[in-house]
Amino acid sequence: MESMWKSRKVVIVGAGAVGTSFAYALAQKGLADEISLVDANHDLAEGQVLDLAHGLPYYAPVQIRVGHKKDYGDASIIVLTAGAKQAPGETRLNLLQKNAAIIEAIVDDIVSENSQAIILVVTNPVDVLTHVALKRSGWPKGRVIGSGTVLDSARFRYLISRHCNVDVGNVHAYILGEHGDSEFAAWSMTNVAGVPMDDYGALSSAPGDWPAQRERIAREVKESAYHIINYKGATYYGIGMALVRIVGAILQDQRSVLTVSTFLDGEYGIRDVCLGVPSVMGRTGVMKIVEAPLIPHERESLQESARTLQKALQDLRAPR
Ligand SMILES: NC(=O)c1ccc[n+]([C@@H]2O[C@H](COP(=O)([O-])OP(=O)(O)OC[C@H]3O[C@@H](n4cnc5c(N)ncnc54)[C@H](O)[C@@H]3O)[C@@H](O)[C@H]2O)c1
Repeated sequence: MESMWKSRKVVIVGAGAVGTSFAYALAQKGLADEISLVDANHDLAEGQVLDLAHGLPYYAPVQIRVGHKKDYGDASIIVLTAGAKQAPGETRLNLLQKNAAIIEAIVDDIVSENSQAIILVVTNPVDVLTHVALKRSGWPKGRVIGSGTVLDSARFRYLISRHCNVDVGNVHAYILGEHGDSEFAAWSMTNVAGVPMDDYGALSSAPGDWPAQRERIAREVKESAYHIINYKGATYYGIGMALVRIVGAILQDQRSVLTVSTFLDGEYGIRDVCLGVPSVMGRTGVMKIVEAPLIPHERESLQESARTLQKALQDLRAPR
């Protein structure tokens, strides 16, 4: 396929913990020709770029620089990690309104530069803000996506691999739905090296103990972010690697199946909401949504998660 980009240029908006962890991991992978960091705090962007650039002798060739609005024009992928922090006493809805306004302003700038990029939203609540970005851009749905449950699925695979004492690369497992409290483990799609998870899990557990382990693993995935935030205030390395995986699939047209947040238009009986479902990722973003034959209660969990997100979108749009 002929490339629509001059070079593999990744613009990261938000040079905070997530943006720079991602930049650092991306530079080491050698997947990008150019990484530009944009931040409302210009000094922060300058400092982060200098610090990252001092690794240049040891990365694969890459340019790392401070970016500006005009960099959206020839970017391949624009990753949005910009966001406000929750102020003391601030409601979740208030924070959502603030972050929605930030994302809309950035998307307006991207559109005004006639960008041909893929937009990848990371700022939380990521599914709601992906929807906001998609609608604001007016772009095709496959080109505006969110990081979805790619990180949650990685956490799930990690915990299964530890329990079963097997290479995480042999664990195929997906967390679906909202990146948040209504997400769920799609056990019916989970296997180790092709062996259904309940069979492999039972073999890896004390007799009769697998159902309890299964429950523990699903709970730990959901609670991971809370634990990390309690320990150290924020999560950024895991998401940094998840973003490298998504961006690599796009830049290299890998056709990888990843649970990015994408707009559903009837798939799984769900409409007008973005949430994490298995999607084939390549050069043009989401190329296809995989409609997995979920068992009935998993399908219901996905629809319930969609309702949670639809409610958040309604709250965001409600007149004040
Ligand atoms: N989707 C996921 O899986 C996932 C995982 C971890 C964190 N996150 C989210 O990523 C976001 C960033 O987290 P962080 O820890 O890097 O926060 P951070 O506070 O360290 O960084 C955010 C940066 O955004 C910048 N910013 C704010 N408004 C801006 C604007 N209008 N234009 C440009 N830059 C702007 C700030 O100056 C700051 O440097 C948060 O919303 C967080 O919840 C998402």
